[in-house]
Parts: sequence; C-alpha cells; structure tokens
Amino acid sequence: MSTRKLRGSAAEAAGSAPAEPIVEFAEVTPYEQYVGVRELQGLVRTVTDHPAEPSFLVVTQIMELWFTLLRREWELAQRCLRADDLDGAVAAIRRSVHHLRSLNATWGSLMWMTPAEFNGFREQLGEASGFQSYEYRHVEFLLGLKAESVVRPHRALPAVHADLQRALAAPSLEDDVHAYLARRGLPVPADVLDRDRTQPHGAHPGLTALWSEIYADPRPGNDLFALGEALTDVAEEFTTWRQRHVTAVRRAMGAKPGTGGSAGLAWLERSAARVVFPDLWAARTEL
Ligand code: HEM
Repeated sequence: MSTRKLRGSAAEAAGSAPAEPIVEFAEVTPYEQYVGVRELQGLVRTVTDHPAEPSFLVVTQIMELWFTLLRREWELAQRCLRADDLDGAVAAIRRSVHHLRSLNATWGSLMWMTPAEFNGFREQLGEASGFQSYEYRHVEFLLGLKAESVVRPHRALPAVHADLQRALAAPSLEDDVHAYLARRGLPVPADVLDRDRTQPHGAHPGLTALWSEIYADPRPGNDLFALGEALTDVAEEFTTWRQRHVTAVRRAMGAKPGTGGSAGLAWLERSAARVVFPDLWAARTEL
C-alpha cells in the first residue's frame, strides 16, 4: 500500500494524473478479508420486525466492541506499569479516554427511543439484559469495581467464566498504579498493597494523602500528576457512560422492572453511584 502511495505522489509531482484505486481483485477484497463485513452484518440478527430494534441491537454490539478496546488498552497499561514504563501506560490510558468519549457519544443513537417503541420488541428480549455483559464486567473489574455475584451468570460458558474469575482476583489498573508508586519510593500503605483484590474498596487516608502530595505540583513536568489526571478522565468518562445509561433507561421504560430481573432504574442508580478511583476524588477535598 505504501509503495503505491509513493508512486502516486511521484506521478503527481511529475504533473501527471494521480493514481486511481485498484479495482481488480482475483479474490475477495483485502478490505473484506481484514474487516469481515459479511460476518458483522450476519450478527445483526433482530428478533422482531419493529423499526426501533435494529438501533438497539447495533448500538449494543458496538458498545461491546468499545468495551473490548478499553479492556485491551488498560491491560496494556498494566503491562507497561509492571515494566516501569510510565509513558507507555499513560499513552494507553489517554487513548482509552478518547475511546470512552466515542463510546459515550454512541448513546445519541438511542436517546430518541420512547416507551411505546421499546415495548415494540421488549417482550421478545425475554430475560436478556446488559447486566449479563461479561465484557462490561471485565471493564468494571479493571476499574476496581469488583463483585463476585456478577461472575455467576456466566457459568455455562466455562472459558468466559474462568477468565472472569481470574480477573476478579487479579490486580485492577489502580492496583498496578499503586504497586508502581511504591516502586518509585512513594509511601503506599502496606495494607493497600496486600488488600483482597476480589473486594471493592473506598478511599484510603494514606493514599488520599499521597495523591494530594502529587497534586500539589500540577505542572506538566510532574509525570505522576499527568498519570493522576489521565486516570481521573477515565473515571469521569466511565461515570458519564453509567449516567447516560440511566437516562436512556428512564426515557425508554421509566421505572418499570428490567428484563434482567432487577428493579430497573432504582437498582441502576445505586450501581452507577459506585466511585471509580476514590482516592483521586478524595484528594481534591484535601487540597
Ligand atoms: C434504552 C435502552 C436500554 C434499556 C431500557 C436498558 C435497561 C437496563 C436495565 C433495566 C438494567 C438493569 C438490569 C435489568 O434488570 O435488566 C440494565 C443493565 C445494564 N445494561 Fe442496559 N439498557 C439499555 C441499553 C443498554 C445498552 C445499549 C447497553 C450496552 C451494552 C447496556 C448495558 C447494560 C449493562 C452493562 C448493564 C449492567 C449495569 C450494572 O451492572 O450496573 N444497556 N439495562
């Protein structure tokens, strides 16, 4: 591809017509081989003919792909932190903030949906619910929002279940940040480094104090301040995803119970209130 481009620009420089795209292929186009458009289209399997359903299904599928991308970026950031490559970690976290903003913008494709339209295909969803998204659980676990109960629905898929169970007990992105800070000689409390990874946690006074110390110097040269701000962006954008979900639910079904068996809105509001990176927020009160 790059050789063609070079040839094209050489032709342009010489004043002749720019090269035309290739239109003859002996086999299926390289684009199709790479992207798999037919496979993607085959996955848009609506269960009704209601005109509102395709947006609901496609938006959900697109969001699953964003979750996968977020997971890859944060797992990469963890590997970088473990190798003491802070620049590599911050680059991956910053990229993920852009992905989160695009993910959040996707809600726009659903915000038109009224209860009458949602009711047009809701029955046919049976007990299916986003609550059963295991990729979303990986995202939550990487952000430190751990819960054993959300692993249970996936017992019938042994590989998925085992992977989620591993992720439940594994360090979150935040845990890797703390280990890195400790290796840099900062006073990370021992009970933070040893804590039970399967449990969620609130702010810790020692960590809150440590972040306030880092934030006392907010100049670009302070690499740990830059890390803290990238993580705060992640927390903010992820919170936005949860808030926009709550609003979408309120618009499309009011306070009715969910297809997944929960109370719906009230349950979601409580779930969305869990704080991501609590010490980074608590430090702001100290400053
Ligand atoms: C207007 C459309 C939507 C409605 C009415 C809706 C409704 C709900 C409800 C009521 C719940 C609570 C669990 C239950 O009882 O079912 C829930 C959970 C959830 N939904 Fe949606 N949802 C919508 C769109 C989406 C989309 C597009 C996604 C993207 C994957 C999604 C992902 C999730 C996730 C991950 C949860 C679990 C949240 C948590 O554990 O805090 N939802 N949804």
